[in-house]
Amino acid sequence: MSYKIKVFIETHGCQMNVSDSEKAATKLASNGFEISHSEDEADVILINTCSIREKASHKVLTRVGEIKQSNPGQFIGVMGCVAQLDGATMFENKKDISIISGTTALERLPDNLSYFLQSKQRVLDIGENNGEDWEADFAYRHSPFVGYVPIIEGCNKFCSYCIVPFSRGRERSRSARSVINEIKDLKSSGVKEVCLIGQNVNSYRPTDDDGLKNILGATPFSKLLRTVVTTDIERIKFTTSFPRDFNEDIVCAIEENESLCNWVHLPVQSGSDSVLQRMRRGYNVSFYKNIVERIRQAKRKISLTTDIIVGFPGESDKDFAETIDLVKFSEFESAYIFKYSDRQGTPSSVLENRVNDSRMTERFLELEAVQKRIQQRKLSECVGNSYSVLVEKRSAKKEDEFTGHTTCHKVVNFKSDSEMLGKIVNINITEAKSNCLVGDLI
Ligand code: 5AD
Ligand code: SF4
Repeated sequence: MSYKIKVFIETHGCQMNVSDSEKAATKLASNGFEISHSEDEADVILINTCSIREKASHKVLTRVGEIKQSNPGQFIGVMGCVAQLDGATMFENKKDISIISGTTALERLPDNLSYFLQSKQRVLDIGENNGEDWEADFAYRHSPFVGYVPIIEGCNKFCSYCIVPFSRGRERSRSARSVINEIKDLKSSGVKEVCLIGQNVNSYRPTDDDGLKNILGATPFSKLLRTVVTTDIERIKFTTSFPRDFNEDIVCAIEENESLCNWVHLPVQSGSDSVLQRMRRGYNVSFYKNIVERIRQAKRKISLTTDIIVGFPGESDKDFAETIDLVKFSEFESAYIFKYSDRQGTPSSVLENRVNDSRMTERFLELEAVQKRIQQRKLSECVGNSYSVLVEKRSAKKEDEFTGHTTCHKVVNFKSDSEMLGKIVNINITEAKSNCLVGDLI
């Protein structure tokens, strides 16, 4: 048997990146490569990193240096958003990188890698996207029990701080038929939970409605939710939702269908109307509060989580105080808080009135403290109750400890054994830690 080139894919960042790595692994494997689970044994390391915040390309270059030092014989490739945005410069300046394969070049990754390995000519591909392939093979999924199912790629919103419309291009929605077929396949392979993913899942707008349940007046996304329910998959989650496109029917669909999980991730970004306007988010605080109220009134308790940016250019003390107020009002179950960071080429990167870094850090810490108190109270309220939990994996630290999520997307740790993996169990919550719950199997 001929030797297969072993490729290790190193993934950082959001679910979209995890999903892209799954697709890349699927493509590489079907083109004769072996997907390695060991970084040290691999012939090629592909780095797939997020560019949404922090100094992404700097981090990649550091990683490249580390890899070259520990395994000088390995070839290195960079894929994904960082490759798309900074690939051309990296290609020029860092000869240790053999392949740059942008988000538009996922389809051509196996060809590009083969070309390099045969010719030893370095490859830079950030060119045209010629068709999307949405599917990942079960063997290369990040989890045997939770399946990420991309339903929409790219973004048309152009929030003034955000690089995504540039790194991932315009919105493209996947056909409902293809989504449903993938979920049916996942279900028959033992997957218990699917998470429909996309930068803005509720902006889902396929070019043809074929395969969608026909519901008068419903948006394509809530039609999709109601269609996914018919596959009988045990749990359905979706993320991320965009406030302006958040139609009330999404809440109705959750109320009506037990398998649609009681969790909505709805990034608000700021609690100040003037900041939201400069962020070009297309909604104001009262619009967001109305959604919070509607979610609160749902027949089934729905957990709400969010993303917030502090220190957007021009954010005054008053603006920031309004964000604190909104966080107190909304009582998020959890929140990802970010310090604003300039992304080159975005409209906000040239705005004046910058918030300096120490003030930004102060605001970050203050907001984090407020959110932590809310979160702690919410987690404590769970103690003494029982929750349905999908047993996802063994804890990295302890042999007999396992971990999973509730339908409201809280992490729960508990003692169990490997026979329970992939099962949905009831857990009685005994303790609330700062970011997760601890409990006993019932
Ligand atoms: N600076 C800080 N945070 C950002 N995000 C996106 N772009 C930036 C930026 N330039 C955050 C937003 C988004 C999350 C995925 O990342 O809060 O919802
Ligand atoms: Fe970025 Fe705004 Fe699109 Fe989200 S909605 S990906 S923040 S441009």
